[in-house]
Amino acid sequence: MHSYKKIIIVCFVAVFVITGIAATRAPEPPKAKNLKVLPKDISHDDLEKVMHGFSDALGVHCDYCHAKSSDPNQKWPDFASDAKPEKNIARKMMKMTAKINKKFFSFNKDEQGNVQDAISCGICHHGSPHPEFKAPPHEERQGPPPPSNN
Ligand code: HEC
Ligand code: HEC
Repeated sequence: MHSYKKIIIVCFVAVFVITGIAATRAPEPPKAKNLKVLPKDISHDDLEKVMHGFSDALGVHCDYCHAKSSDPNQKWPDFASDAKPEKNIARKMMKMTAKINKKFFSFNKDEQGNVQDAISCGICHHGSPHPEFKAPPHEERQGPPPPSNN
């Protein structure tokens, strides 16, 4: 093989590798611009953790709370939009959960004395947007059997 052909092949491979790397690197995520409850300077990683926590706790996808983008070519929701009522309910729930922890669970500390959140979305929601009280069937609720006489 002529050496210039080799060089061309090497160049092609290099271009493939470089564009491959560029494609796998996610673009810098945009700064959140409509936070009313979370700290405005929250890192992208922490925001993502909180959001995945909500989704898991309620057993829903992001679009349960986040409205569709007005741009039909945009597959992601418009995260900053407050158009879906569920998002504002979630804000109320965040405040309620923080308040319950602060007001009633301040005794809940780890060995270092740091207060641990006792209540989280999942404690009530258990993987559903509509928490339900599920009592065990009546038969299972009757305490221990009466003591026998022998
Ligand atoms: C249970 C409702 C709920 C779910 C599910 C949810 N979010 Fe959110 N999200 C919120 C709320 C509420 C806020 C605003 C918080 C605030 O005001 O401090 C928010 C804010 C955001 C923001 C910041 C937007 C901005 O510019 O202000 C991003 C980004 C985001 N969510 C991404 C996600 C992603 C990604 C998912 C899915 C993995 C998700 N969310 C699932 C309720 C939800
Ligand atoms: C103390 C229990 C409790 C906690 C903690 C709690 N929730 Fe709720 N949540 C409820 C109840 C009860 C409802 C009303 C459910 C219904 O309408 O069937 C509700 C409703 C909601 C709804 C509206 C669902 C709908 O479609 O109508 C959203 C969204 C929500 N919660 C998000 C959250 C998030 C996010 C958290 C954590 C920050 C949270 N909740 C923590 C009890 C709780």
